[in-house]
Amino acid sequence: MKIPSKLSLSLLSIAVLWGGWLHCPADGNDFGCRSLRFKRSEGECAPQRYVFKEIYLPMGKELMTHDCRYECFMESNCLSVNIGPPNETGFRLCQLSNFDHTQHREDKEIRKGFILWASENSCTSTPCLHDSTCLNGYTDKRYICLCPDNYTGENCEKDRNECIDNSHDCHAKAVCNNTEGSFTCSCTEGYQGNGRNCTGEIHRYS
Ligand SMILES: *[C@@H]1O[C@H](CO)[C@@H](O)[C@H](O)[C@H]1NC(C)=O
Ligand SMILES: *[C@@H]1O[C@H](CO)[C@@H](O)[C@H](O)[C@H]1NC(C)=O
Ligand SMILES: *[C@@H]1O[C@H](CO)[C@@H](O)[C@H](O)[C@H]1NC(C)=O
Ligand SMILES: *[C@@H]1O[C@H](CO)[C@@H](O)[C@H](O)[C@H]1NC(C)=O
Repeated sequence: MKIPSKLSLSLLSIAVLWGGWLHCPADGNDFGCRSLRFKRSEGECAPQRYVFKEIYLPMGKELMTHDCRYECFMESNCLSVNIGPPNETGFRLCQLSNFDHTQHREDKEIRKGFILWASENSCTSTPCLHDSTCLNGYTDKRYICLCPDNYTGENCEKDRNECIDNSHDCHAKAVCNNTEGSFTCSCTEGYQGNGRNCTGEIHRYS
């Protein structure tokens, strides 16, 4: 018998709390638990320009996995969903988008029969520094920062010292000097080159 293990694990690990959803992936290869609170928007607005994925979901099934918001949960950059009216065979269009209802207020478009559910976005306050990526809903702080290589820390606020953690590519005969966001290499005395490549003087004895 074929068991859809990933799906059943997901079902076990999702909980609905205080109008918000909490999901802790059982496979662990994610960013930890995610919790999202969706708010239904008034009217028939469905901003289209932020949509990055569309699926059709059958109606009339009570399974949580047939909910468009559940699909949003599974995509780490998803912030809101547009749900279309049912078609003749009972399917609804589910649009996943990274529309932020607090930042893009004016961008709403009316689309007949559509419903917009937008999540509270903890990334709105741009807590992630140095061009890092902010993902909404993860950790106790309700966001997680994905740091570029040259920064670390919860909010990517700390310069990474490449000279100490040995991620630099200076030559063995070079000195590494950590700088904000980067590092420099300079060849030690008696060697020439750009610091990545240092060559010694050739001594000829006759
Ligand atoms: C409704 O949508 C589903 C999913 O895309 C599709 O398979 C079906 O043919 C559609 N029905 C009609 C009547 O358009
Ligand atoms: C290391 O880098 C800092 C910051 O750029 C600079 O002030 C310092 O002079 C450098 N030290 C060496 C040994 O190059
Ligand atoms: C940090 O790394 C990024 C990506 O490589 C680079 O664009 C940026 O200039 C670096 N920051 C500094 C301060 O050097
Ligand atoms: C280092 O420099 C030498 C001399 O210019 C050159 O022959 C060699 O290919 C260089 N090595 C690397 C890894 O760039």
